[in-house]
Amino acid sequence: MIKPLFWDNNQLYIVDQTLLPIEYKRIEIKSHLDMANAIKRLAIRGAPALGIAAAAGLVLGLKPFIDSGSRLFFEKLDEISTLLNSTRPTAINLSWALKRMKSVAESMNHKPVPDIWNKIYQEALTIHQEDIEMCQVIGRHGQSIIPEKANILTHCNTGGLATGGLGTALGVIITAHQLGKDIHVYVDETRPLLQGARLTAWELSEEKVPYTLICDNMAAYIMATRKIDAVIVGADRIAANGDAANKIGTYGLAILADYHEVPFYVVAPSSTIDPSVSSGKEIVIEERSGLEVREIFGVKIAPEDCPAISPAFDVTPNGLITGIITEKVVFRTPYNFL
Ligand code: MRU
Repeated sequence: MIKPLFWDNNQLYIVDQTLLPIEYKRIEIKSHLDMANAIKRLAIRGAPALGIAAAAGLVLGLKPFIDSGSRLFFEKLDEISTLLNSTRPTAINLSWALKRMKSVAESMNHKPVPDIWNKIYQEALTIHQEDIEMCQVIGRHGQSIIPEKANILTHCNTGGLATGGLGTALGVIITAHQLGKDIHVYVDETRPLLQGARLTAWELSEEKVPYTLICDNMAAYIMATRKIDAVIVGADRIAANGDAANKIGTYGLAILADYHEVPFYVVAPSSTIDPSVSSGKEIVIEERSGLEVREIFGVKIAPEDCPAISPAFDVTPNGLITGIITEKVVFRTPYNFL
């Protein structure tokens, strides 16, 4: 399993996911600016991995200020956190991890700055480690929704590349296969950036889970003509009422699942739940460049000046979600996370 981010001899590296699966290239991340850039261009992506990345980016950004006074150190902590947090607005994991790092630093504010920096470095590693363990728990916990023999449809990438461990939604699916269940997965390619085709299909190949790649617009046909037992996806932010933001196209899948009476599950760590937003209408949806729609891997597929939009996520209303699986509980409708 490829780790999206790792430390080696106190140096931080990520695997550039924009190149996978054609090329495996690790990049050294030397500063918070390198990390912000990597996050923006999706070299590292997936909600839990973004939290791990933001925490690591903050550690690097504060390293040059180890020998400065505490006041400057805390000013820089706020400045760098604001920058990292602004890179991708929809996934809650960025702000969740950065808030956690700040509160750890503040709990040490009477200590020498090098000690504070060491503590937040350890905290970034702990966030990473906890995510690995969370994936294992979710993977086992999610088995209650997977029959012994199942045809599952999934969207985007929610596997090891999107997390610290085995994954969330894909972690549940891979664990089911490892436990000997007879699993087959339909993988949505996930336009515009093809995380399904490039990353999920590749991860399932590596784990030897039987799968079939489909274009996003084939999902209705597949549901109508083959028996799909469940649609299982991840989430970037879940509102207090259970509305869930996830990769663009998820909402459409939920409508199709409802029409075809296929259970639709969201799998995410409980830290993805954001009680501060009462409904999905308040979730900020990241708008990316229309170029992502006009081009594939830099190859033009539309007229040069063709108007195009690229909302990165959509919100699935709670009423379309059969269950939300976290590391703690399988929640069922009506959801109330206040
Ligand atoms: O734009 P991305 O690739 O970061 O979007 C990823 C998703 O939408 C995932 O489904 C979500 O982050 C959950 S990852 C466990």
